[in-house]
Amino acid sequence: MTAWTKVFLLIGLGLLAVDAAAPWWKTASFYQIYPRSFKDTDGDGVGDLNGVTEKLEYLKEIGVTATWLSPFLKSPMADFGYDISDFKEVDPLFGTMEDFEKMVSRAKELDVKIILDFVPNHSSDDCDWFLRSAAGEEQYKDYYIWHPGFVDDDGNRRPPTNWVSVFRGSAWEWHEGRQEYYLHQFHKKQPDFNFRNPVVREEMNNVLRFWLEKGVDGFRVDAIYHAFEIEADENGNYPDEPRNDWTDDPDEYGYTHKIYTVDQPETPHLVYEWRQILEQFQADNGGDERILMVETWSPIEIVMDYYGNSTADGAQIPFNFQLISNLHYDSDAYHYEYLINNWLNLMPEGKSANWVIGNHDKNRVGSRFGADRVDLFNILLLTLPGCSITYNGEELGMLDGYVSWEDTVDPQACNGYEANYMDNSRDPARTPMHWSDEKMAGFTTGKSTWLPVASDFTQRNVKTERGVSLSHLNVFKRLQALRQEPSIEEGSAEIKAVSNYVLAVKRHLSGNYVYISLFNIFDSIENVNLSNVFDDLPAKFQYALVTEKSIKKVGDQLSTSSVTLMPHESIVLRSTVTV
Ligand code: GLC
Repeated sequence: MTAWTKVFLLIGLGLLAVDAAAPWWKTASFYQIYPRSFKDTDGDGVGDLNGVTEKLEYLKEIGVTATWLSPFLKSPMADFGYDISDFKEVDPLFGTMEDFEKMVSRAKELDVKIILDFVPNHSSDDCDWFLRSAAGEEQYKDYYIWHPGFVDDDGNRRPPTNWVSVFRGSAWEWHEGRQEYYLHQFHKKQPDFNFRNPVVREEMNNVLRFWLEKGVDGFRVDAIYHAFEIEADENGNYPDEPRNDWTDDPDEYGYTHKIYTVDQPETPHLVYEWRQILEQFQADNGGDERILMVETWSPIEIVMDYYGNSTADGAQIPFNFQLISNLHYDSDAYHYEYLINNWLNLMPEGKSANWVIGNHDKNRVGSRFGADRVDLFNILLLTLPGCSITYNGEELGMLDGYVSWEDTVDPQACNGYEANYMDNSRDPARTPMHWSDEKMAGFTTGKSTWLPVASDFTQRNVKTERGVSLSHLNVFKRLQALRQEPSIEEGSAEIKAVSNYVLAVKRHLSGNYVYISLFNIFDSIENVNLSNVFDDLPAKFQYALVTEKSIKKVGDQLSTSSVTLMPHESIVLRSTVTV
């Protein structure tokens, strides 16, 4: 039998179809859950894993393929779970390992994939590894970055360098016990691991293996660009970072230009190593591809390195923060067009795009861009090629909740001053999820919540929005249905600014309908001749998705040469014929 005969035979038997199918994550709709604020089942005012399990059906209802859960592992909660004291234990605040297992098994029944937040850059200072390292135990002494600092002419001890922590102040903390400084790029209760120590790398590899065994489908890798710092010189010293001139405050993160503490050349290789672990696990255990989503706020060229290089695969999803980082309230359609196409153009051959506009570290989309643009961003994220990542509550158009200085708990804000705490606080985007218009928004049966419930919960909540035909929630659900259309799922994409005001995204797969999403970014009425924007369009289209701004209905037909958009209106059109 020739090789080709074998191939035809296999196709005939339907066996090649599985191999040929695109991996699940490529066009997945990801949903980030911030477990503290998602659903509380034990009445303590903090969300828990049983709450996530209870709401998995909701994820199914809104068409989610996979959910990335912010950390729920053992932690003293100095950074609300991003300070882990045991990388293999569930924190009792969130439940037990049994609860986790129940959640995974229910998710499997519903076919919702579970992605764990993997926080490799640092542990908690309560972590056993840190305690042993601080005690100078031989095996652990180099698990973290330690340095005695220097004694100046006046006999005062000063830190090894001018490096600043993301949460303000020196990135070095003096440890009385060990009589040395340790490095912490975030909170002083989050000491940085020493990734130049192969034992630490193996510990972290084992953390990945542990959770893979427990059935997770992949990892969101936290703050990866901080993993390495420049290597110490022959005397064990580190260089100062150059100053930035925009602030004189040595405690402000922007005080130094980050050339030694982030984006070191070794870092993407760490991710390549982890990808190997995932591949090996899959080779040994089968099942769907396990994935890595990496968080790096690096220049775009560096982000691209995380996809892999000519010899190694990296993360399937290096988060695309281009829209989050660069778009602002006044950005025009050319700016949107540039940012989207720039990612697509710079992406290495054969890789897949991802789109994200909100998360637990950023103000809510509707608060940054205006409540009138909530649908715009949901439609954009879900009709661009690749996968989308939605932060919980964005499907409802939740806005920032008001959190007074007294109620503020985020260390990024608490380490600063009352005068500008709102600029730094991440609490407003973390207020409890709105499930209903009942007491405490249906989030808890308890009397109080860890952050206040936002005051607008009676209008913006799951229960109410289910019943309003063009609510943000129903627009989101409709979008998920459209994503199953071959042109949107696997078709080509053309992204064009029609004018300063209107952005257009065309999706098409030969032999199928042409889909065009249109976004009127500002508050004027706009008329568009689509034939001037894209070549070879059929003469007629119909509305495939409208929003509450629309005066048309789904199914209404229109001429390609004249599409009218109301202020802030976003729509999806479908050609009336396949081409
Ligand atoms: C990431 C997380 C953020 C956390 C930080 C330190 O940026 O998204 O919430 O504070 O890492 O772990």
